[in-house]
Amino acid sequence: MNEVAVEPLAENSSQVIGLDGYSILLCNSAGKHYAIANQCSHQDSPLEKGRIRNGYISCPLHGVRFSLETGEPMGVQLTRVPVKTYEVIEDQSSVRIKIE
Ligand code: FES
Repeated sequence: MNEVAVEPLAENSSQVIGLDGYSILLCNSAGKHYAIANQCSHQDSPLEKGRIRNGYISCPLHGVRFSLETGEPMGVQLTRVPVKTYEVIEDQSSVRIKIE
């Protein structure tokens, strides 16, 4: 198992984190941090720069919304494949992402 610690993000913002060869998108939605693979399950486009609202991120390419909690796609059914999510542990000064 590997993990990385980073600074907390501002609400509705995101940051790409490289860890163990994976590109992970750390997001803050409604004050809670989530980590999701930075690759859409529709056509593999990066999810970075996607709009983050209410626990979801929208893929910038075709707009599929994914739950930041589960990675499940919602709404427009261009894909039914979830995006991988990662465990996040946060405290007041840092956010840790775990990869198993
Ligand atoms: S590549 Fe993300 S919705 Fe099509």
